[in-house]
Amino acid sequence: MSATERASFIHDPNLKVLIDTGRLQARVRAMAEQITSDYAGKNLHLIGVLKGACVFLSDLMRSIDLPLSLDFIGISSYGASTKSSGEVRITKDLDVSLAGKDVLVVEDIIDTGLTLNYMANIFRSREVSSLAIAALLDKPDRHEIAVDAKYIGFTIPNHFVVGYGLDVGELYRNLPFIGVPEIPENLVKS
Ligand code: IMP
Ligand code: MG
Repeated sequence: MSATERASFIHDPNLKVLIDTGRLQARVRAMAEQITSDYAGKNLHLIGVLKGACVFLSDLMRSIDLPLSLDFIGISSYGASTKSSGEVRITKDLDVSLAGKDVLVVEDIIDTGLTLNYMANIFRSREVSSLAIAALLDKPDRHEIAVDAKYIGFTIPNHFVVGYGLDVGELYRNLPFIGVPEIPENLVKS
């Protein structure tokens, strides 16, 4: 089979583009500029929420013009399913103390809000100087609890989305856009 005949994983006709690469990049840059101006004169401590936030975080941080440090927390609430169990589990804790830091939690998506609510409560009890949340995507129709996210990239309808860090069953994180599977059952499985 030649390269042109090979079926593309990324350009799968079952994946409808909800937010293309250009819109993602422009919006992420604008969020970074806002963060740069809001935290002027401060050092920022970013916490990336593994694994979904990895692509958003790496684009966002490269456009933030401030001295910043980086840590990761691993949170799992979904397993391989596309429905929230409401269960939140820490799979990797932070490496360094949050005491006295201006903390910005970077998350891929606010769905039910349970994950961020859980994390925000933990972090607030760790004597942070300030705490804010940046989420690339927000699905307000799905919220089960209020989440006070200071920075939101895009508000989206209640679709299950993949790409730009977001997965289904650990696949599709490498899409350079946010896509919606037309027939979710036809997604490639790991
Ligand atoms: P929440 O606790 O329901 O807000 O769930 C948040 C987490 O669920 C996110 O960090 C994602 O990992 C995952 N999630 C929620 N909605 C989607 C989606 O549409 N696609 C992929 N992952 C999602
Ligand atoms: Mg996640």
